[in-house]
Amino acid sequence: MEYQNILVETKDKVGVITLNRPKALNALNDQLMDELGHALFAFDQDENIGCMVITGSEKAFAAGADIAAMVDYNYMDAYNGNYVTKNWEHILRVRKPVIAAVAGYALGGGCELTMMCDFIIAADNAKFGQPEIKLATLPGCGGTQRLPRAISKSKAMDLCLTARLMDANEAERAGLVSRVVPLDKLMEETLAVATTIASMSLPVVMMIKDAVNRSFESGLTEGVHYERRLFHASFGTHDQREGMRAFLEKRPANFQNK
Ligand code: HXC
Repeated sequence: MEYQNILVETKDKVGVITLNRPKALNALNDQLMDELGHALFAFDQDENIGCMVITGSEKAFAAGADIAAMVDYNYMDAYNGNYVTKNWEHILRVRKPVIAAVAGYALGGGCELTMMCDFIIAADNAKFGQPEIKLATLPGCGGTQRLPRAISKSKAMDLCLTARLMDANEAERAGLVSRVVPLDKLMEETLAVATTIASMSLPVVMMIKDAVNRSFESGLTEGVHYERRLFHASFGTHDQREGMRAFLEKRPANFQNK
């Protein structure tokens, strides 16, 4: 597939996808979302890749769904077109970790996309928000559900109902982002994190991602039960024995992703 709206590169074992519609602040249209899904699945299937990063520009991760593309939608366009289910949720089926490296605006669908990533590293100029209310619509890709889980009901209500933007430090305090780094260090720091993850045993990385994500879908007892099953499954890997032996023998582990 020839990409028009994203850039794709690999850095060692990390697959990097850069949203690239600078004239529209990376507004997310159908074509871009098709390309993003395609690139994510390609990295997910590439055995040389252990972690992925999605980023945007210094000014905008993504300023939302493309307003120009949806301005004339009617109900049947949206319903029959399966908007946005059709191509926005591919990322939820990716088994390897996906980190959002966010600088500038992550608004509306852009904020929702960051929340569908596994975690968010923010540059100090990042701004998050769900300003759909100003367009007389609402977050349509999970924002009203994932934001309260991430930052509390109170803050989520505040953001969604007033359209105010939340800066990087507030986002870190609220628990939306895992770290805030200087803008000029965003990719360096994110790649270091992604490289660390990619150095681990891939099947166990995927089990951990699966288990943590399960906590959003289930009650505590069910979630712990799910975790326990995956914990037991880790003893079926070669890498578990290697990792524990390496520790006891005081040497680096040599994982084989099996
Ligand atoms: C289409 C967009 C866009 C968007 C920006 N642009 N955001 N085009 N869809 N979401 C375009 C502008 O029209 C403009 O094009 C160019 O990008 C630069 O934007 P400016 O507004 O001139 O830049 P600036 O003054 O710096 O303001 C930045 C901004 C503002 C604060 C981020 O652009 C803004 O408020 N954007 C909309 C944010 C928003 O409402 N997002 C939610 C969308 S709804 P021209 O051609 O004039 O240069 C949504 C629903 C999701 O996401 C539900 C399903 C997923």
